[in-house]
Amino acid sequence: MAPDVELDTPAAVVDLGRVRANLARWQAECDRLGLANRPHVKTHKTVEIARMAVELGASGLTCQKLGEAEVMADAGFDDLLVSFPVVGGGKLGRLTSLLARANVRTIVDDATLLPGLDSAASAAGKALGVLVDCDTGLGRTGVGSPADAVELAGVVDGYPALRFDGFLTYPSPPGAAAFLGEAVAQAGARGLEPAVVSVGGTPSMWEADQIVPPATEYRVGTYVFHDRNTVAAGAATLDDVALTIAATVVSRPAPDRALLDAGSKALSYDRGPDDGYGLVLEAPGSAIVNLNEEHAYVTLGPEDVLEVGRQVRIVPNHVCAAVNLYDELVVVENGRVAGSWKVAARGRSR
Ligand SMILES: Cc1ncc(COP(=O)(O)O)c(C=O)c1O
Repeated sequence: MAPDVELDTPAAVVDLGRVRANLARWQAECDRLGLANRPHVKTHKTVEIARMAVELGASGLTCQKLGEAEVMADAGFDDLLVSFPVVGGGKLGRLTSLLARANVRTIVDDATLLPGLDSAASAAGKALGVLVDCDTGLGRTGVGSPADAVELAGVVDGYPALRFDGFLTYPSPPGAAAFLGEAVAQAGARGLEPAVVSVGGTPSMWEADQIVPPATEYRVGTYVFHDRNTVAAGAATLDDVALTIAATVVSRPAPDRALLDAGSKALSYDRGPDDGYGLVLEAPGSAIVNLNEEHAYVTLGPEDVLEVGRQVRIVPNHVCAAVNLYDELVVVENGRVAGSWKVAARGRSR
């Protein structure tokens, strides 16, 4: 995993072999379960990884924001799910342009969004696929009951340029199978056809068999790199982690304190399972207890030695937030720097 050469730090470093293994293992599981694999680009935001996933068999891509979808459409991907409510005139105009060059689906949890979506699709002269967003436990967006989901599905179905495609939820807690199964049954009874039941989340990916049926499609993002959170959730081991932040020890002002050159602008402020800000692989008994913008404060464990100048690798707590801080990912293969990938959808949060 560690490159043989010294890197200019901080840097986001990708282990190509591990990325390939993570993508292939999950595609094989989806194939085994008969699930469509629609990986989420919000984690890696690169065209290269999206392409690798599709070449391995992914049925299309999930994008959280229109901006990510635009980047992927520019790169030639033509089957895109925008898994975030598209709200506001500016965004609807962009949706029309996106629809003109790709097959697009999006989500709704509120009938007030439908006239705007219908107009955007009519302007493109193309049908827009719509999934009804269901809250099966997160308490984020989504309708709260199967009956409400089917009610909204019926309203979607009445718009000429909208196509009711099915249901979506995130993440996929234990109650999601019953909720979605009930929604599918009730939709069928009303003559609606939910062709897609889309679920997602890396922490529960290896229990996907418990949600098929009703699930027909699974969306994973973090699975490509993993991070401290997905390792803590049991979805991966540290040996699966395919992206680390390379940092340098820049100061040792006290026997138990080291400062690294990777602060909140290199790691993000997301806290991890130990309440710290990342795991230093070379100092596993130590903790990153605080961050400033450019500094990580490491409290050293008794066995750990971090001399000034040493390069270390940090497993971020939340890799999606960390990747969005970098223009490029350094790609390492067999211990050598093999190139770099542009984080093409970096900052495309609109
Ligand atoms: C709608 C949706 N689908 C899928 C995912 C992917 O989740 P994970 O990174 O746990 O795989 C997310 C993550 O936030 C999400 O919001």
